[in-house]
Amino acid sequence: MRKKIVAGNWKMNKTLQEGVALATELKNILAAEKPNCEVIIGTPFIHLATLSEMLKDSVIAVSAENCANKESGAYTGEVSAAMVKSTGAEYVILGHSERREYYNETPEILKEKVDLALANGLKVIFCIGESLAQREANEQEAVCKAELQGSVFHLTAEQWKNIVIAYEPIWAIGTGKTATAEQAEEIHAFIRKCVADVYGAQAADDTSILYGGSCKASNAPELFSKPDIDGGLIGGASLKAPDFKGIIDAWK
Ligand code: PGA
Repeated sequence: MRKKIVAGNWKMNKTLQEGVALATELKNILAAEKPNCEVIIGTPFIHLATLSEMLKDSVIAVSAENCANKESGAYTGEVSAAMVKSTGAEYVILGHSERREYYNETPEILKEKVDLALANGLKVIFCIGESLAQREANEQEAVCKAELQGSVFHLTAEQWKNIVIAYEPIWAIGTGKTATAEQAEEIHAFIRKCVADVYGAQAADDTSILYGGSCKASNAPELFSKPDIDGGLIGGASLKAPDFKGIIDAWK
């Protein structure tokens, strides 16, 4: 049975103190009322060690939002997968459209990052999704398939067990425009079929595929009610504990 997941992606928000305050609030809320899904928070590097320690006995797992495509050495300013792992973080988000677009992360670079993340014992939340122009040209399936082929479909079946896919249509990220539950379900089912073609029906059935893009408490129940939508990757609405909790509650 695949996992239901609600994962936050704080992006470049929250100082260390603000992040600790938010994580503390969330930890207390979820200790009082157990979630019906796995809960992950993706944070900037600076929060990882503190939050991993703080949350180690809680239901919340911690994720990085990136890692380097090199193992170690003279790469000023970079943070390696081994360093992320050493903080106690369990996951890393890779392939986010903001990283692809603003930091020129190509499928090849992402493939290197995925390989290093897995080699260092991290689980990967791998993001894919089309732009508005691609959606208007009805290219969403081809784009998603190519992004999977470019960076993760070389993995072995054993490695694949540590992959979570996040489908995030770029036109829905931070725009307030959500894909309709039907639009999302259609492409999630397609993505699952692509996984089945490479890894088999059982592995595809066991793969969690999250939706991301203006997901909030008001639309999460409808999105999560679809058979191939296994949760969400949440940007804006993960920055306030009650908003994030509202999405987690969609699994109740
Ligand atoms: P959003 O971001 O929820 O603010 O649209 C989602 C994401 O980019 O992961």
